[in-house]
Amino acid sequence: MMELPAFGSRRIRVEDKRLINCHEVDVNQLMPIKYAWAWEHYLNGCKNHWMPSEIPMARDIELWRSDKLTDDERLVILRNLGFFATAESLVGNNIVLAIFRHVTNPECRQYLLRQAFEEAIHTHAFLYIVESLGLDEGEVFNMYREIPAVARKDEFEMELTREVLRPDFTTATVEGAQAFLKNLIGYYVIMEGIFFYSGFAMILSFHRQNKMTGIGEQFQYILRDETIHLNFGIDLINGIKAENPELWTPEFQREVQQLIEEAVELEVAYAYDCLPRGVLGLTAPMFREYVQYIADRRLERIGLKARYGSKNPFPWMSETIDLLKEKNFFETRVTEYQQAAALSWDE
Ligand SMILES: [Fe+2]
Ligand SMILES: [Fe+2]
Repeated sequence: MMELPAFGSRRIRVEDKRLINCHEVDVNQLMPIKYAWAWEHYLNGCKNHWMPSEIPMARDIELWRSDKLTDDERLVILRNLGFFATAESLVGNNIVLAIFRHVTNPECRQYLLRQAFEEAIHTHAFLYIVESLGLDEGEVFNMYREIPAVARKDEFEMELTREVLRPDFTTATVEGAQAFLKNLIGYYVIMEGIFFYSGFAMILSFHRQNKMTGIGEQFQYILRDETIHLNFGIDLINGIKAENPELWTPEFQREVQQLIEEAVELEVAYAYDCLPRGVLGLTAPMFREYVQYIADRRLERIGLKARYGSKNPFPWMSETIDLLKEKNFFETRVTEYQQAAALSWDE
Protein backbone atom coordinates (compact mmCIF):
# COMPACT_ATOMS: atom_id res chain seq x y z
CA MET A 1 0.00 0.00 0.00
CA MET A 2 2.97 2.37 -0.04
CA GLU A 3 3.28 2.42 -3.84
CA LEU A 4 2.69 5.85 -5.33
CA PRO A 5 0.44 6.15 -8.39
CA ALA A 6 2.30 6.56 -11.70
CA PHE A 7 3.44 10.14 -12.40
CA GLY A 8 0.82 12.00 -14.39
CA SER A 9 -1.88 9.35 -13.89
CA ARG A 10 -5.45 10.56 -13.78
CA ARG A 11 -6.75 12.39 -10.74
CA ILE A 12 -8.60 10.64 -7.93
CA ARG A 13 -12.37 10.46 -8.10
CA VAL A 14 -13.98 10.68 -4.70
CA GLU A 15 -16.35 7.82 -5.49
CA ASP A 16 -13.40 5.47 -5.92
CA LYS A 17 -12.48 5.75 -2.26
CA ARG A 18 -13.21 2.64 -0.16
CA LEU A 19 -12.75 1.88 3.52
CA ILE A 20 -11.08 -1.49 2.93
CA ASN A 21 -9.65 -3.23 -0.14
CA CYS A 22 -9.23 0.01 -2.07
CA HIS A 23 -6.91 -0.44 -5.02
CA GLU A 24 -7.94 2.56 -7.10
CA VAL A 25 -6.98 5.42 -4.84
CA ASP A 26 -3.67 6.29 -3.22
CA VAL A 27 -3.87 6.35 0.61
CA ASN A 28 -1.56 9.36 0.71
CA GLN A 29 -4.08 11.74 -0.83
CA LEU A 30 -6.43 13.15 1.78
CA MET A 31 -8.56 15.35 -0.47
CA PRO A 32 -11.18 15.02 -1.82
CA ILE A 33 -12.65 13.71 1.43
CA LYS A 34 -15.36 11.10 1.07
CA TYR A 35 -16.00 10.10 4.70
CA ALA A 36 -16.81 13.43 6.36
CA TRP A 37 -17.47 11.63 9.69
CA ALA A 38 -13.84 10.50 9.89
CA TRP A 39 -12.59 14.06 9.49
CA GLU A 40 -15.19 15.33 11.99
CA HIS A 41 -14.00 12.81 14.61
CA TYR A 42 -10.40 13.82 13.91
CA LEU A 43 -11.20 17.52 14.51
CA ASN A 44 -13.13 16.71 17.68
CA GLY A 45 -10.25 14.62 19.00
CA CYS A 46 -7.83 17.51 18.40
CA LYS A 47 -10.11 19.97 20.20
CA ASN A 48 -9.95 17.77 23.30
CA HIS A 49 -6.20 17.64 23.71
CA TRP A 50 -5.02 17.17 27.31
CA MET A 51 -2.07 15.84 29.27
CA PRO A 52 -2.32 13.75 32.46
CA SER A 53 0.24 15.81 34.37
CA GLU A 54 -2.02 18.90 34.14
CA ILE A 55 -4.36 17.41 36.69
CA PRO A 56 -3.52 18.10 40.33
CA MET A 57 -3.35 14.94 42.43
CA ALA A 58 -2.69 16.42 45.89
CA ARG A 59 -6.16 15.65 47.28
CA ASP A 60 -5.98 12.06 46.03
CA ILE A 61 -2.56 11.59 47.60
CA GLU A 62 -3.84 12.88 50.92
CA LEU A 63 -6.91 10.64 50.87
CA TRP A 64 -4.97 7.58 49.71
CA ARG A 65 -2.47 7.99 52.56
CA SER A 66 -5.23 8.55 55.14
CA ASP A 67 -7.35 5.87 56.80
CA LYS A 68 -10.52 7.26 55.23
CA LEU A 69 -10.73 4.67 52.45
CA THR A 70 -11.86 1.13 53.21
CA ASP A 71 -10.00 -1.92 51.93
CA ASP A 72 -12.89 -2.65 49.58
CA GLU A 73 -12.70 0.86 48.14
CA ARG A 74 -8.97 0.48 47.59
CA LEU A 75 -9.53 -2.84 45.88
CA VAL A 76 -11.93 -1.35 43.28
CA ILE A 77 -9.51 1.47 42.54
CA LEU A 78 -6.50 -0.83 42.18
CA ARG A 79 -8.30 -3.42 40.01
CA ASN A 80 -9.52 -0.58 37.85
CA LEU A 81 -6.10 0.95 37.38
CA GLY A 82 -4.67 -2.53 36.75
CA PHE A 83 -7.16 -3.24 34.00
CA PHE A 84 -6.82 0.12 32.23
CA ALA A 85 -3.04 0.34 32.54
CA THR A 86 -2.58 -2.47 30.00
CA ALA A 87 -5.91 -2.28 28.16
CA GLU A 88 -5.03 1.19 26.83
CA SER A 89 -1.79 -0.22 25.49
CA LEU A 90 -3.55 -3.20 23.88
CA VAL A 91 -5.88 -0.79 22.09
CA GLY A 92 -2.99 1.39 20.89
CA ASN A 93 -1.02 -1.58 19.62
CA ASN A 94 -4.04 -3.07 17.91
CA ILE A 95 -4.58 0.20 16.02
CA VAL A 96 -1.00 0.43 14.85
CA LEU A 97 -0.29 -3.24 14.16
CA ALA A 98 -3.65 -4.68 13.15
CA ILE A 99 -6.14 -2.00 12.08
CA PHE A 100 -4.09 0.70 10.38
CA ARG A 101 -2.69 -1.44 7.57
CA HIS A 102 -6.03 -2.69 6.41
CA VAL A 103 -7.97 0.57 6.46
CA THR A 104 -7.34 1.87 2.95
CA ASN A 105 -8.69 5.37 3.36
CA PRO A 106 -6.65 8.49 4.20
CA GLU A 107 -9.25 10.37 6.26
CA CYS A 108 -9.78 7.28 8.45
CA ARG A 109 -6.03 6.83 8.76
CA GLN A 110 -5.73 10.46 9.81
CA TYR A 111 -8.15 9.70 12.63
CA LEU A 112 -6.34 6.48 13.54
CA LEU A 113 -3.07 8.39 13.89
CA ARG A 114 -4.78 10.81 16.26
CA GLN A 115 -6.42 7.99 18.22
CA ALA A 116 -3.17 6.08 18.57
CA PHE A 117 -1.60 9.16 20.22
CA GLU A 118 -4.60 9.50 22.55
CA GLU A 119 -4.14 5.89 23.64
CA ALA A 120 -0.51 6.72 24.44
CA ILE A 121 -1.76 9.63 26.57
CA HIS A 122 -4.17 7.31 28.35
CA THR A 123 -1.41 4.82 29.16
CA HIS A 124 0.62 7.81 30.37
CA ALA A 125 -2.27 8.73 32.70
CA PHE A 126 -1.93 5.40 34.50
CA LEU A 127 1.80 5.83 34.93
CA TYR A 128 1.12 9.33 36.33
CA ILE A 129 -1.50 8.03 38.78
CA VAL A 130 0.74 5.18 39.96
CA GLU A 131 3.64 7.58 40.48
CA SER A 132 1.54 10.27 42.19
CA LEU A 133 -0.01 7.89 44.70
CA GLY A 134 3.21 5.95 45.18
CA LEU A 135 1.48 2.68 44.23
CA ASP A 136 3.36 -0.53 43.61
CA GLU A 137 3.89 -0.33 39.84
CA GLY A 138 4.63 -4.05 39.66
CA GLU A 139 1.25 -4.83 41.17
CA VAL A 140 -0.72 -2.47 38.91
CA PHE A 141 1.11 -3.16 35.65
CA ASN A 142 1.16 -6.96 36.10
CA MET A 143 -2.52 -7.40 36.88
CA TYR A 144 -3.23 -8.56 33.34
CA ARG A 145 -1.22 -11.67 34.05
CA GLU A 146 -1.82 -12.10 37.75
CA ILE A 147 -5.53 -11.38 38.25
CA PRO A 148 -7.66 -13.94 36.36
CA ALA A 149 -10.66 -11.63 35.72
CA VAL A 150 -8.36 -9.08 34.06
CA ALA A 151 -6.31 -11.71 32.21
CA ARG A 152 -9.43 -13.27 30.66
CA LYS A 153 -10.64 -9.98 29.20
CA ASP A 154 -7.23 -9.23 27.71
CA GLU A 155 -6.87 -12.75 26.32
CA PHE A 156 -10.29 -12.41 24.68
CA GLU A 157 -9.07 -9.24 22.92
CA MET A 158 -5.64 -10.60 22.02
CA GLU A 159 -7.24 -13.56 20.26
CA LEU A 160 -8.84 -11.06 17.86
CA THR A 161 -5.55 -9.25 17.30
CA ARG A 162 -3.68 -12.49 16.62
CA GLU A 163 -6.06 -13.42 13.85
CA VAL A 164 -5.31 -10.22 11.94
CA LEU A 165 -1.55 -10.48 12.55
CA ARG A 166 -1.22 -13.91 10.93
CA PRO A 167 1.26 -13.61 8.02
CA ASP A 168 -1.29 -14.89 5.49
CA PHE A 169 -4.05 -12.55 6.68
CA THR A 170 -5.89 -10.55 4.02
CA THR A 171 -9.17 -8.64 3.86
CA ALA A 172 -9.54 -9.61 0.20
CA THR A 173 -11.56 -12.73 1.06
CA VAL A 174 -14.96 -12.76 2.79
CA GLU A 175 -13.52 -14.72 5.73
CA GLY A 176 -10.62 -12.29 6.05
CA ALA A 177 -12.82 -9.20 5.90
CA GLN A 178 -15.15 -10.76 8.47
CA ALA A 179 -12.19 -11.46 10.77
CA PHE A 180 -11.20 -7.81 10.35
CA LEU A 181 -14.73 -6.67 11.24
CA LYS A 182 -14.57 -8.93 14.31
CA ASN A 183 -11.36 -7.22 15.34
CA LEU A 184 -13.00 -3.79 14.96
CA ILE A 185 -16.05 -4.93 16.93
CA GLY A 186 -13.84 -6.57 19.57
CA TYR A 187 -11.91 -3.37 20.15
CA TYR A 188 -14.24 -0.47 19.42
CA VAL A 189 -17.53 -1.97 20.54
CA ILE A 190 -16.39 -4.42 23.24
CA MET A 191 -13.12 -3.15 24.72
CA GLU A 192 -13.68 0.60 24.40
CA GLY A 193 -17.49 0.46 24.27
CA ILE A 194 -18.31 -2.08 27.00
CA PHE A 195 -15.28 -3.05 29.15
CA PHE A 196 -14.20 0.57 29.51
CA TYR A 197 -17.64 1.89 30.39
CA SER A 198 -18.14 -0.21 33.50
CA GLY A 199 -14.62 0.83 34.55
CA PHE A 200 -15.60 4.48 34.08
CA ALA A 201 -18.76 3.96 36.13
CA MET A 202 -16.73 2.52 39.04
CA ILE A 203 -14.21 5.37 39.22
CA LEU A 204 -16.69 8.13 38.49
CA SER A 205 -18.79 6.90 41.42
CA PHE A 206 -15.90 7.89 43.64
CA HIS A 207 -15.68 11.23 41.90
CA ARG A 208 -19.40 11.83 42.50
CA GLN A 209 -18.83 11.32 46.22
CA ASN A 210 -15.91 13.72 46.12
CA LYS A 211 -13.31 10.96 46.58
CA MET A 212 -10.20 10.46 44.43
CA THR A 213 -11.21 13.45 42.33
CA GLY A 214 -7.84 13.67 40.53
CA ILE A 215 -8.21 10.13 39.21
CA GLY A 216 -11.86 10.98 38.54
CA GLU A 217 -10.86 13.96 36.43
CA GLN A 218 -8.35 11.86 34.47
CA PHE A 219 -11.17 9.40 33.84
CA GLN A 220 -13.47 12.18 32.67
CA TYR A 221 -10.92 13.18 30.05
CA ILE A 222 -10.41 9.56 29.04
CA LEU A 223 -14.15 8.95 28.86
CA ARG A 224 -14.57 11.98 26.61
CA ASP A 225 -11.86 10.66 24.27
CA GLU A 226 -13.28 7.14 24.34
CA THR A 227 -16.74 8.40 23.41
CA ILE A 228 -15.22 9.66 20.15
CA HIS A 229 -13.22 6.43 19.65
CA LEU A 230 -16.43 4.47 20.01
CA ASN A 231 -18.31 6.73 17.58
CA PHE A 232 -15.53 6.52 15.01
CA GLY A 233 -15.42 2.72 15.38
CA ILE A 234 -19.15 2.41 14.88
CA ASP A 235 -19.06 4.64 11.79
CA LEU A 236 -16.18 2.57 10.41
CA ILE A 237 -17.90 -0.77 11.11
CA ASN A 238 -21.20 0.40 9.63
CA GLY A 239 -19.37 1.95 6.68
CA ILE A 240 -17.57 -1.33 5.90
CA LYS A 241 -20.87 -3.20 6.21
CA ALA A 242 -22.58 -0.81 3.79
CA GLU A 243 -19.80 -1.10 1.21
CA ASN A 244 -19.50 -4.89 1.58
CA PRO A 245 -23.00 -6.20 2.34
CA GLU A 246 -21.90 -9.76 1.55
CA LEU A 247 -19.97 -9.79 4.86
CA TRP A 248 -23.00 -9.23 7.07
CA THR A 249 -24.58 -12.68 6.73
CA PRO A 250 -27.09 -14.00 9.31
CA GLU A 251 -24.45 -16.50 10.41
CA PHE A 252 -21.85 -13.78 10.90
CA GLN A 253 -24.37 -11.65 12.80
CA ARG A 254 -24.92 -14.57 15.18
CA GLU A 255 -21.16 -14.85 15.63
CA VAL A 256 -20.94 -11.15 16.53
CA GLN A 257 -23.88 -11.47 18.89
CA GLN A 258 -22.15 -14.39 20.64
CA LEU A 259 -18.89 -12.50 20.86
CA ILE A 260 -20.68 -9.64 22.63
CA GLU A 261 -22.51 -12.04 24.95
CA GLU A 262 -19.22 -13.69 25.87
CA ALA A 263 -17.73 -10.26 26.59
CA VAL A 264 -20.67 -9.35 28.85
CA GLU A 265 -20.02 -12.47 30.94
CA LEU A 266 -16.31 -11.61 31.20
CA GLU A 267 -17.15 -8.10 32.33
CA VAL A 268 -19.69 -9.30 34.88
CA ALA A 269 -17.10 -11.72 36.32
CA TYR A 270 -14.65 -8.81 36.54
CA ALA A 271 -17.25 -6.69 38.37
CA TYR A 272 -17.77 -9.49 40.93
CA ASP A 273 -14.01 -9.64 41.33
CA CYS A 274 -13.71 -5.87 41.90
CA LEU A 275 -16.77 -5.58 44.15
CA PRO A 276 -16.95 -8.72 46.26
CA ARG A 277 -18.97 -6.86 48.91
CA GLY A 278 -19.99 -3.64 47.19
CA VAL A 279 -18.83 -0.10 47.94
CA LEU A 280 -20.32 3.39 47.76
CA GLY A 281 -23.74 1.90 47.07
CA LEU A 282 -22.38 -0.01 44.07
CA THR A 283 -22.81 -3.75 43.90
CA ALA A 284 -21.77 -6.39 41.39
CA PRO A 285 -25.41 -7.19 40.40
CA MET A 286 -25.84 -3.49 39.49
CA PHE A 287 -22.88 -3.88 37.18
CA ARG A 288 -24.48 -6.90 35.55
CA GLU A 289 -27.45 -4.64 34.76
CA TYR A 290 -25.23 -1.84 33.55
CA VAL A 291 -23.04 -4.02 31.32
CA GLN A 292 -26.12 -5.61 29.78
CA TYR A 293 -27.75 -2.21 29.26
CA ILE A 294 -24.61 -0.88 27.57
CA ALA A 295 -24.25 -4.05 25.45
CA ASP A 296 -27.82 -3.60 24.16
CA ARG A 297 -27.07 -0.02 23.11
CA ARG A 298 -23.91 -1.16 21.30
CA LEU A 299 -25.73 -4.02 19.55
CA GLU A 300 -28.33 -1.59 18.26
CA ARG A 301 -25.72 0.80 16.95
CA ILE A 302 -24.22 -1.86 14.71
CA GLY A 303 -27.64 -2.90 13.48
CA LEU A 304 -28.28 -5.91 15.73
CA LYS A 305 -31.19 -6.50 18.09
CA ALA A 306 -30.94 -5.64 21.76
CA ARG A 307 -30.57 -8.87 23.69
CA TYR A 308 -31.00 -8.17 27.40
CA GLY A 309 -33.61 -5.46 28.01
CA SER A 310 -31.91 -4.39 31.27
CA LYS A 311 -32.46 -0.96 32.77
CA ASN A 312 -29.63 1.51 33.29
CA PRO A 313 -28.85 1.47 37.05
CA PHE A 314 -26.55 4.48 36.58
CA PRO A 315 -28.56 7.13 34.72
CA TRP A 316 -26.01 9.66 35.96
CA MET A 317 -23.44 8.09 33.60
CA SER A 318 -25.42 9.28 30.57
CA GLU A 319 -25.68 12.74 32.13
CA THR A 320 -21.94 12.76 32.79
CA ILE A 321 -21.19 11.87 29.17
CA ASP A 322 -23.47 14.67 27.94
CA LEU A 323 -21.96 17.16 30.36
CA LEU A 324 -18.43 16.27 29.31
CA LYS A 325 -19.22 17.31 25.76
CA GLU A 326 -20.02 20.79 27.08
CA LYS A 327 -17.53 21.07 29.91
CA ASN A 328 -14.76 23.54 29.48
CA PHE A 329 -11.85 21.73 31.03
CA PHE A 330 -9.57 24.66 30.22
CA GLU A 331 -10.93 26.63 33.17
CA THR A 332 -9.19 24.31 35.62
CA ARG A 333 -6.04 23.87 33.64
CA VAL A 334 -2.67 24.76 35.05
CA THR A 335 -0.83 24.65 31.74
CA GLU A 336 -1.39 26.62 28.59
CA TYR A 337 -0.27 25.26 25.29
CA GLN A 338 2.28 27.24 23.37
CA GLN A 339 0.66 28.97 20.48
CA ALA A 340 2.49 29.01 17.18
CA ALA A 341 3.14 32.75 17.52
CA ALA A 342 4.77 32.25 20.91
CA LEU A 343 7.29 29.66 19.80
CA SER A 344 10.85 30.85 19.99
CA TRP A 345 13.67 29.17 18.18
CA ASP A 346 17.23 28.93 19.32
CA GLU A 347 19.42 30.32 16.62
FE1 LIG B 1 -7.94 4.97 25.58
FE1 LIG C 1 -9.72 4.41 23.03
